[in-house]
Amino acid sequence: MFITFEGIEGTGKTTQIKKLTAFLEEIGHIVEVTLEPGGSRIGKELRKILLNMDSTDITGQCELFLYLADRAQHVGQVIKPAVDAGKIIISDRFADSTIVYQGYGRGLDPKLLRELNDVAVSGNWPDLTILLDIEPEIGLKRAMTRNLQENKMQAEGRFEAESLEFHTRVREGYLTWAALNNDRIVVVNADQTPDEIFEEIKAKVVERIKGDYVTNG
Ligand code: TMP
Repeated sequence: MFITFEGIEGTGKTTQIKKLTAFLEEIGHIVEVTLEPGGSRIGKELRKILLNMDSTDITGQCELFLYLADRAQHVGQVIKPAVDAGKIIISDRFADSTIVYQGYGRGLDPKLLRELNDVAVSGNWPDLTILLDIEPEIGLKRAMTRNLQENKMQAEGRFEAESLEFHTRVREGYLTWAALNNDRIVVVNADQTPDEIFEEIKAKVVERIKGDYVTNG
């Protein structure tokens, strides 16, 4: 099974992925956690280019194709093998990030991005996507504090440095995209305590796992 987490910066994806991993392992699943960009060896190199503050000269198209290249390698080398081995693989961001950041955020056509993503994922769309939703003002403040504390502003801060309008477009884009794909994407209010957020996520994941057993025996 393949589960992805999405959301703007500072929604607490990392904390929730840790909680979900611990819970799933406790009930006997083998879990692998990964991320985009940077879930493969080649992807780690692409991540440096994509997130470094110095990449100010990157064109929108170049950015798009680097995310897609990262994804194609990630799916082939990490995600598909894990799913084939019967594991639950959880990715911090995946194809929806491209549709929302490069599409709703940067202004590229979401429909075209969906088609390009189809090439990159070659059939491996997630079974379930958890969208953590929060006001951009709150999320950005959290993300900036984290980057400063971990001294990551220069190496990882290119998107956090975008305007509040950009992040507001991204947040609204996520909600629009989630409504169009409500069979796969569930929206969880991330402006709650970590435990409250996790209770909602756990219920959705358990429901999805049960459905999977009914379908696949
Ligand atoms: P993160 O690791 O802190 O989530 O940072 C990844 C950044 O890259 C985040 O700001 C969103 C952005 N991004 C895109 O713009 N498009 C994509 O396809 C992906 C995977 C991430």
